[in-house]
Order: sequence, then C-alpha cells, then structure tokens
Amino acid sequence: MTSRLRSPWIIALVTLLAAALGAVPAAGRGVARAADAPYKDPSLPVATRVADLLSRMSLDDKAGQMTQADRGALTTVSDVAAYRLGSILSGGGSAPSPNTPSSWADMYDNFQRQALSTPLGIPMIYGIDAVHGHNNVVGATIFPHNIGLGATRDPDLVERVGRATAEEVSGTGIDWTFAPCLCVARNDRWGRTYESFSEDPQLVTQMTTIVDGFQKAGNASILATAKHYVGDGGTTGGRDQGNTELSEADLRAIHLAPFKAAVQRGVGSVMVSYSSWNGARMHGNKYLITDVLKGELGFKGFVVTDWAGIDQLDGQTGFTANEITTAINAGVDMVMVPNDYKKFVSLLKQEVQAGRIPTSRIDDANRRILTKKFELGLFEKPLTDRSYTSTVGSAAHRAVAREAVRKSLVLLKNAGDVLPLAKTGGKIFVAGKSADDIGNQSGGWTISWQGSSGNITGGTTILQGIRDLVGSGAQVTYNRDGSGIDSSYRAAIAVVGETPYAEGQGDRTGSMGLDSTDLATLQRLKASGVPLVVVLVSGRPLDIAGQIDQWNALVAAWLPGTEGRGVADMLFGDSAPSGRLPMTWPRSADQEPINDGDGKDALFKYGYGLDYTVPPPHSPSPSPSPSPSPSPSPSPSLSPSPSPSPSVSPSAGGCVVTYRTNDWGGGFTADVTITNRSSSAVNGWRLQWTYAGNQKITGYWNAVVTQSGQQVTASNASYNGTIGANGGTASFGFQGTYSGANATPAAFTLNGAACATG
Ligand code: BGC
Ligand code: BGC
Repeated sequence: MTSRLRSPWIIALVTLLAAALGAVPAAGRGVARAADAPYKDPSLPVATRVADLLSRMSLDDKAGQMTQADRGALTTVSDVAAYRLGSILSGGGSAPSPNTPSSWADMYDNFQRQALSTPLGIPMIYGIDAVHGHNNVVGATIFPHNIGLGATRDPDLVERVGRATAEEVSGTGIDWTFAPCLCVARNDRWGRTYESFSEDPQLVTQMTTIVDGFQKAGNASILATAKHYVGDGGTTGGRDQGNTELSEADLRAIHLAPFKAAVQRGVGSVMVSYSSWNGARMHGNKYLITDVLKGELGFKGFVVTDWAGIDQLDGQTGFTANEITTAINAGVDMVMVPNDYKKFVSLLKQEVQAGRIPTSRIDDANRRILTKKFELGLFEKPLTDRSYTSTVGSAAHRAVAREAVRKSLVLLKNAGDVLPLAKTGGKIFVAGKSADDIGNQSGGWTISWQGSSGNITGGTTILQGIRDLVGSGAQVTYNRDGSGIDSSYRAAIAVVGETPYAEGQGDRTGSMGLDSTDLATLQRLKASGVPLVVVLVSGRPLDIAGQIDQWNALVAAWLPGTEGRGVADMLFGDSAPSGRLPMTWPRSADQEPINDGDGKDALFKYGYGLDYTVPPPHSPSPSPSPSPSPSPSPSPSLSPSPSPSPSVSPSAGGCVVTYRTNDWGGGFTADVTITNRSSSAVNGWRLQWTYAGNQKITGYWNAVVTQSGQQVTASNASYNGTIGANGGTASFGFQGTYSGANATPAAFTLNGAACATG
C-alpha cells in the first residue's frame, strides 16, 4: 500500500516544484499535475483517491460539486467548466433534439468533455428520472409503473427490470436514476400513488431489489436514488408535497422502513421529500437527514434535494442564502437547483466564507459525492459506453417488460369464468379510450413530465397485442367508444381508466370514479348483452362499486407501459393471472385513506387477486370455439390465494433446487427455483426443508408456504403445479425474519424425494 502510494506522491511533488520554477507552462500546469496525481490512479483505494482529490480542490471546485443544474437551464455548455458543475440533470421531458439514444449520448459526452477540461478534470454525474424504464427517451422500453411491479410480488423480476433499465440508461451515457420511489402511498388520492410499490411497507421493502438491478448491472451499473425521504406517501389528504402528520414511531414503521432496506443494499443517493413532517419541511430536517439517515442508518452515499426543493423552506419563491445554509447544515450534499446555478454557487461560497456553513460540512458533502463518482468508475470511463446504446428498446428488454406486465395484472372478478377467452372462433369487440393508446397505458413520466395520450413512443398497444395474439383465429373489431357493437360478438373488452398525470396534477380531491367518456363506452357495450371484460388502466384503485355488477370480468392493469401484449397474453390464457393487490381497493372514494388492517370495509382487500380455475387454452388453440359464448366452465373462481394442487405425484427424481436470499438486519426475502431434470413432468409439487436456525416465514408468493417449527412446506399454486420434463422449472418466493445466521437449508425434498442443490 505505502509503496504504491509513494511514487505518485513523489512525482506530484516534483511536478509541483517544476511548476513553481516555471518549467511547466501555466495553461498546462493543472493538467500536468493531475495526470500524475494519486486520485487518478485506479489501483488505489477509493478513500485514498478521494482524500487526495479533496486536498487539491478549491472552494470553487467544492461548491460546484454540490450543484446540479438542469440541462435546459445552462446558458452555454461551457458553464459546466466555468462553474465547476458537479452534476447535470434532465427534468421530466428535458431532452435533446432529436430525441434519439445516440443524440442523448452525444449530448452527455459533450457535457462530460467540459467537465474533464477543468484543471482537476473531475467528471460530472448526470441524473434522470428513469422511473419505469428510461422514460424520457423515445423508443425506450417502458416498464409498468411501480404500483404494477408491486402487484407482481416478484422481487427477482423487479431486479431484472432495474438491470434492463440501467442498460438503456447507460447506453445514453447517463449515470444516475432518480429511482426507486420508496414512497408508501397511504391515500390513493395522491397523484403519485402509481410511483409507489404498495401501501404496505413490507412489500415496498421487498421491492428494493430494484436498487441492486440498477447498481449491480456490471459495466452498465448506474447510481440509484431512494426517494423521497421521508413520509412523501403519508401526507394528510394524500396531498402532493403536503404534511405528514404522524408520530415518530409510525413514521419509522411505515415510511422509514424501506429506506433502511435500501441503505443496507448500498443505495448511492437519497432524495429529500418536498413534504413536511408534522409541519416541518423535510429539506431542513437535520434530525431525519443527518442523525437518522446518515447516523443511525449508516447511509454512506449522498443526499440530493428535490427539484428546487430548498426554495420552499421559507415559503417565498426562489432560494435565499439562508435556505441554502439551512439545507446544507441539515445534511443535504447536492442541490438540484435546477435553474439559477450561477446565483447558487456564489451564495453557497459566500455562506462558507462567512462561516455560516462549516468547511467540514462542505468536505463531507464532497467526500460523499466524489466517493460515488469513483465507485461508478466515472474517472476511468467518463464517456458513454456505446456498446449499450443499441439496448434501448431492445427485444430482450421488451420481453422483460412483457413478463412484468403479465405478472402485474390482478384479476378482480371473473364471473362464470369468462376469462381466459378462447383465441379462435367468432368475433371479439374491443373498445375504450385506452385500448389503442400507448400514452394512456404508459401514464405520467413518459416522454414528457406529465405524459400524454396518443402515439408518443414505440410499443404495442393493448389492442395491437390482442390482434397479434389472435391473428387470423378470430375477428377483432375495434371502436374507441363502443359504437357498432351488437349481439353477434362473443366477448367485449373495454380498456378504460385514467389519462396521464404526474405529481400534484394527479391529486384527486373529489370523485375517484370513471369519467363520462368511459361510462358511456361501457354503457354501449353492456347494452349489447355481450359478456363484458373490463381492463382498467389506472394509476390507482378507482371508485367502481357502482358499475362492477354489470361487468363479467375485471382486470386491474395499472399503467403497464409499452408492452401491451402482456395484457393480451393473460386475457387469452397465454399466461395465468398471478398479481395480487398492492393497495386496498376502496368501496367508495370517501373511505380514503383506506389501508390493510384499518378495519374499513374494502371492495377488495389488500392482497386480493383471483387465479384462473380452468386451465388456459394453450396455443395452438385446442378447439375452434363456436360463437357466441365459448367458455362453459365449472365454477367461478373465488379463491384469492394460490391453492395447492389436490393430486400430488409421488416422486420427482432428478430435481435441483436453487435457494437464494437477500438479507438485511433481521429480514430477508428468498427466491427458490425447482428444476426438474427427470424425463417426466411433475404434476403437483410439494417442496420441503428444515431450517437449522430460527427463520420465520411471514409472507410468500407463487406457492403456499407453511411452517411448523423449523419444518417448511411449499406447495404449488394452482397455476404452476406442473414442472415440465427435462429442465422445466417452477419458482416461488417468500419473505421472513431471522436472528443470528440466515443459513441456507442443507437439504430439500420434492414430493418426498431428495433434490440436489444448485
Ligand atoms: C420530483 C422528483 C424528480 C425531480 C426531478 C421532482 O419534481 O418530485 O421525483 O426526481 O423532480 O425531475
Ligand atoms: C420538471 C420535472 C420536475 C417538475 C417539478 C418540471 O418542469 O420537468 O422534472 O419534476 O418541474 O415541479
């Protein structure tokens, strides 16, 4: 270590001496020194590099590192160098023209070259809201918004969504996403409910696997942001940027818990919430930012403000020196200015020079920011890795998104087993304002900040997905408002719900019902007497109690994004519904806030979701079904939870079990995959194991998991009871608590026969 350190130091010293003696021309001096400086040496530990760099930085350099400007606010590109800007962001919709992946990469490189031209050559870090895929970029894969991901109950899938997003973001040069929102939305009136994985802190905590997806994506790794710290989803009345009135114990139990998990996963940054806690603005809350987050939780990354978040501290428009000082002294490390960066830099320096912000605080902020820049490899690879540029909107990523869509769908009603629909025979009528609308199915934060209806980016609408799936097997008629339907159709599919919105513009203070356009469409379809399947595209549960009796089936599709084919897959049985409600579904808007365990009489409880009870008609379609109604069926599916298959076959020689856990202080999630290596399929399965420690399973998905003492039994769900021969797999997961070690079980048996572990 010391010998490694010594030589660059000697070289630096010699260079310095030479410079002092006038041997190095003035303009080249900084660069010549820096080239030999320890901070440029990737073989040194990050802490050493940070300390060396910090020792070379002026107050100008340090103030610049703490400043983040929006790309659109820059007077000229060279201001990146002139003001030593540490970071640039794209606010919602702040895009280069043309909006193509390579022009994003060119823009990024252009900014980066400016940063590298400064004497110390500290790279800037570029941040963006990639909150459901790289959603500002035309042609990117748009994944379901978080509420849909919460419905999947699949932390592994959510991690893969994060990784795919990281690849697309990296392909445009960008280093940092302002995601995930770890908001725990407690009141569906809130316009950001769809950015929340769940009303349940435990489920939000499980979904922090997305942090690993972002940050552990190999060369495509990007920095994640846990936001908005803390209590954003708990405001009174569900008001955006409002006041969260809660005891500290409740704030911790409900809203802090997911942040704790994200910190344990090493999340690189945390964004402060616009909201207040018991009347005090979070952006000035030293106790929660410094004492709790950095102290108690041990957060090692850096804290960034929300967009112009410090301006709100004194209730007047625009920021003042005093607001800067309050926020920085509270523990904020980087300020998303985002517009007036020149004034910000000068006021920040002034406050430091006047002694109102201690130098130690400025150094701490810089140390945190620079540590992340080094860890990301920005000093070694400052420019876009264009090997990822072609992954933007790639088929592989769209496949992940389609899987996420399939698994996010929650079947809430299926009277007479009208679903799944047969793929062949007769005619199907499709209607509704969101049936053929990429913008509506993607929601807010898509291409623009608020999102918008219409053909805003590439992808597959739900209608197109249905047409592609059915092919020539059945006739599909589409009319947006339902005109032209008659009794000759065997089913009507109505795709209705909300149109895009973001943040406070989505707050709903009054009715939470369907709009008059949707009600009229549904009325027309209903009047035909054709079985009516409603697909609800919305950012939250809506008030539908007055209409649901008229519908034969209801699917909550949330905001699925660009891969509408995933919706078609489930409607026609190419996939089984497995989503479970991440939010309690109210009976009427005046029940808000309504949450699991509060004793209110919900329309559908938290965790509700039906399975198909009849096997999906697999492709190629088994029977050409006559019109009109093709689906005679045994019984309506009522069970909300997966049920073990009644017939369990005796043995399954040749099984391999992989068991992986994600642990954090006392809690864990586990993913288990069973691979069937034998030459015959397993029909109905039960996997058993014994814990050596004191693990307690508290929840599960894609199987029913029961525990008796240290013995655990996982039985298949109704839709994954068959594990195909020669390498077929079934996967399930669960969450639990433990103390001491969380050791992997030593042995597994499948239907009584021992399995290998893999
Ligand atoms: C939002 C944040 C977002 C930021 C940057 C703010 O208005 O609250 O969630 O990350 O803007 O676009
Ligand atoms: C930006 C968003 C930001 C919002 C905050 C918009 O102009 O595009 O990114 O979240 O302002 O109000």
